[in-house]
Amino acid sequence: MIEKPRIYVAGHQGMIGSALVRKLKILGYAKILTRTHDELDLINQAQVKSFFEVEKPDQVYLCAAKVGGVHANNTFPAEFIYDNLMIESNVIHNAWKVGVKKLIFLGSSCIYPKLPNQLIKENAMLSGQVEATNEPYAIAKIAGIKLCESYNRQYRKSHGTDYRSVIPASLYGPGDNYHSKNSHVIPALIRKIHDAKINQLSEVVVWGSGLPRREFVYIDDMSEAIIHIMNLDLVQYREHTEDMVSHINIGFGSDVTIEDLAKQLVKIVGYEGRIVFDLTKPDGVFRKLMDSTLIESLGWKASISLEDGLALTYSDYLKNKKSLRSD
Ligand SMILES: NC(=O)c1ccc[n+]([C@@H]2O[C@H](COP(=O)([O-])OP(=O)(O)OC[C@H]3O[C@@H](n4cnc5c(N)ncnc54)[C@H](OP(=O)(O)O)[C@@H]3O)[C@@H](O)[C@H]2O)c1
Repeated sequence: MIEKPRIYVAGHQGMIGSALVRKLKILGYAKILTRTHDELDLINQAQVKSFFEVEKPDQVYLCAAKVGGVHANNTFPAEFIYDNLMIESNVIHNAWKVGVKKLIFLGSSCIYPKLPNQLIKENAMLSGQVEATNEPYAIAKIAGIKLCESYNRQYRKSHGTDYRSVIPASLYGPGDNYHSKNSHVIPALIRKIHDAKINQLSEVVVWGSGLPRREFVYIDDMSEAIIHIMNLDLVQYREHTEDMVSHINIGFGSDVTIEDLAKQLVKIVGYEGRIVFDLTKPDGVFRKLMDSTLIESLGWKASISLEDGLALTYSDYLKNKKSLRSD
């Protein structure tokens, strides 16, 4: 029988981290190590060093990060760059020091330059300027990818280092953040439309024109994809990536307009009022659809449709409303 690895999931209370822990348990990985932010501050070099020296995991999923929307990125740019650089450096370096061979780092699509109306391939990173609003965060994420690549290039032969990065598209599903100021578009719309139904309002106002297109992956599909990349055979992984373009997009493969998304949610929630678009509010980037042909050629494709995923998300919202992140 093959011994199951000891797996450290950094950021296991976050949206992706918690979904990964759920999925790993379902797949029979019993030895999962976790620490809350209070128990182990990943910014603290000494704490991280001592954690790795004591626990010596076999694999690491690096899902911990300081994450936030445009408002938070603009208000706390120093924290966004410092926290993320420190978390990545501490975790990646100390994992390597105790001999961890396999690690997955989670990037974000904000690492890509603004590319109007075209599919974003992995090699678009560093080919142009990133969005100004979250530049510090994007630079930290690019640094994380480059840390993984550099440790592979220097230590693959001597230490068997095999650190991979993935770029998840926007996620949605159970455990999302429903805070009125810093939630993503799907939880924000669910909350608005649900509240309008309960309060019998005649209309719901959606920011912008409704025309921008967005790509979404259901959380269980995402955790499956990340585990798939972690376990992908090294020869196959290396055949499909380059030493210095090593990250892999995880997307749904198609996108939807905000208007269509709102209409689907209105149906699922059972709201009978109108949707009104507030054209005085900004649209943001018009389109940012990632090219997911690479991961598809590596044997993974999203399987949960947007319609099914939204219905599952709304039913979770109804069931767990009191315990979800909100205000
Ligand atoms: N969600 C998405 O749509 C999405 C899309 C693309 C990429 N990603 C990427 O995926 C990663 C995880 O995202 P997520 O949505 O799961 O984020 P999340 O829900 O905010 O989770 C992040 C986790 O990291 C923890 N953390 C933050 N700073 C820490 C520190 N100094 N020490 C220890 N733990 C710390 C947080 O703990 P506290 O809350 O206690 O601080 C939280 O549990 C991020 O890198 C993000 O950029 C997410």
